[in-house]
Amino acid sequence: MEAEPVQFLWRRYESLLHPSRQAVAAFLGARSRDLVFVTNATTGVNAVLESVRLRPGDEILTTNHDYNACRNVLVEAAKRARAKLVIASVPFPIQSSDEVIEAVLRAVSRRTRLAMIDHVTSSTALVYPVTRLVRELEDRGVDTLVDGAHAPGMVPLSLSRLRPAYYTANLHKWVCAPKGAAFLWVREDKQEELQPAIISHGNNTHRPGYSAFQDRFDWAGTFDPTAWFCAGDAVAWMDKVLPGGWSAVRRRNHELVTHARRALCRRVQVDPPAPESMLGSMATLPLPEPFQGKLRSGKIDAEQSRLYDEYGVEVPFFRFGQPERRFLRISAQLYNSPGEYDYLAQALLTL
Ligand SMILES: Cc1ncc(COP(=O)(O)O)c(C=O)c1O
Repeated sequence: MEAEPVQFLWRRYESLLHPSRQAVAAFLGARSRDLVFVTNATTGVNAVLESVRLRPGDEILTTNHDYNACRNVLVEAAKRARAKLVIASVPFPIQSSDEVIEAVLRAVSRRTRLAMIDHVTSSTALVYPVTRLVRELEDRGVDTLVDGAHAPGMVPLSLSRLRPAYYTANLHKWVCAPKGAAFLWVREDKQEELQPAIISHGNNTHRPGYSAFQDRFDWAGTFDPTAWFCAGDAVAWMDKVLPGGWSAVRRRNHELVTHARRALCRRVQVDPPAPESMLGSMATLPLPEPFQGKLRSGKIDAEQSRLYDEYGVEVPFFRFGQPERRFLRISAQLYNSPGEYDYLAQALLTL
């Protein structure tokens, strides 16, 4: 890019972008024409909320397990339109995915226009039953924006079959593409009204062979698009690591994280807060009693900092619920092994 910027960013742009988009679309069970790259899921959510025409009194629905940055987007959109943000309360600990459906549908009213549904929740690491949710919401006339930030590479996806109104997710998490690789999938009937969060040349510059939707999103101002260009290669590379391809990667990571959760719960004596059937490759579990009830002292909890500084373990801590309880979230990717979770258990017990 720096050696020949005009070649890279202008003359060869589409020939580098197009194969990557095709490979990502195939991986997502989507048509390439319904897919655009964005720099992250937050940007995807912003594009949707800036484009949806809300009226005063309309309701936007989300759940109490949503991601703070995306919640903030809904808050501002609701403020602008004088709409109302409704937060469905999904229990945690949770017994089954039916409880998610019940909580979400209970919060739907005649005024609900759009629901933002996480595919995999961030702090609680639950795989929501998105197929059932999208159908039930659609039956009630509610469009769904799926925040799938963690989903690609963790759970199987077929966007053409799922067909929510909008689906945005990151490829820089479980697909291991570089940071800045993310996408927004938009159902055909919604593409015309959709504007990118950053409006640039594409709004009046048509390229033969591309839809107006793609024209608008494909150029987001001058930045380094390397992550977009190599997202397709990341998908292909990960597919070759294990003999069974992507499904073997997902299975292996799921088995490792469930095994690790069982071992950790046993070692630190806490109860698992969700059934294994609701997990992908991450799991959130309560911190043992001595950790509970301590107020946050800074951006990062003291014990979380100590885990990295003294033990070299990077693991996020969360606070959730009323009354507030403290949790930690473990993840399992191909480079992780069972011994690392034993080491974490030992570190937690000695902190
Ligand atoms: C559920 C969820 N939504 C959105 C995001 C935001 O991702 P990004 O910061 O890449 O935009 C995250 C990040 O972890 C997430 O977990």
